[in-house]
Amino acid sequence: MTGGAERPELGAVPETALWTLWHRAVEARRPDTVLADPKAVELVDRIDFPFEARFGSNATVSQLQALRAACFDREVADFLDRCPRGTVVGLGDGLETQAWRVDNGRADWLSVDLPETAALRERLLPPDERHRILAHSATDPGWMDAVDPTNGVLISADGLLMYLRPEEVRALIAACAERFPGGSLVFDAVPRWFSRRAAEGKLKDRNYQAPPMPFGMDADEHGKLATAHPAVTDVREVYPEGGRGAVRALLPLARRVKRRPSVVALRFAEH
Ligand SMILES: C[S@@+](CC[C@H](N)C(=O)[O-])C[C@H]1O[C@@H](n2cnc3c(N)ncnc32)[C@H](O)[C@@H]1O
Repeated sequence: MTGGAERPELGAVPETALWTLWHRAVEARRPDTVLADPKAVELVDRIDFPFEARFGSNATVSQLQALRAACFDREVADFLDRCPRGTVVGLGDGLETQAWRVDNGRADWLSVDLPETAALRERLLPPDERHRILAHSATDPGWMDAVDPTNGVLISADGLLMYLRPEEVRALIAACAERFPGGSLVFDAVPRWFSRRAAEGKLKDRNYQAPPMPFGMDADEHGKLATAHPAVTDVREVYPEGGRGAVRALLPLARRVKRRPSVVALRFAEH
């Protein structure tokens, strides 16, 4: 599957945007998919990259990635119901195709990512008036200047925080709480054992070795997030729903496991 015109050569962390895209596209190609994502399929076809040789193919991983993306979609859809003209910030947005899955035709979307990933996104998914792209590190609060908070803000950081250092995660949450009263931040976290394995270079699947993931958090640690800033008023886990086959049967049981990946939604107090 290397017929496209775009040939990305990305560093280890930006390349993870191709990993998530690949898994969403693999899952979306199934007739019984848990997440319709035709734009992801189109992008994989357009990008000249040896996806399968590099990332392998594992239907369970693809399904889990799609179910994770669906958690974010539900949060964004709820937000757009409440704030139809609000701003959705995709922090570490990569080649996320969420705007093609849940856009309401009225909201503003801002994709923030490192310069090389943002440049690739610009070429593949050109910005328009309602879908902007900003080349900026999430750890530098300068990106917040590009967000108009007037009609509500939801920050969606899907697959980002694990690549930051714990102190950067804390500072990011605090800065968002300070800057976006009444807003929310949805993110996912890998458990601590996973972060340790990545640091040891032990997250390897054939040719592909995942980059270090300095921030890990177990599912029973979410309460600590409220200490990042007094304006963090609500901490809620967002559980994957539905699924297919064994994944469907196991997901409700997995909730009892503390050392597992999780998706968390934070709400910030109004001033
Ligand atoms: C695993 S990918 C997730 C991409 C997308 N959110 C998705 O779910 O398909 C991680 C993304 O985070 C971006 N990233 C990593 N560190 C970043 C930083 N400090 N600031 C902004 N983006 C960053 C990478 O370039 C990459 O696009």
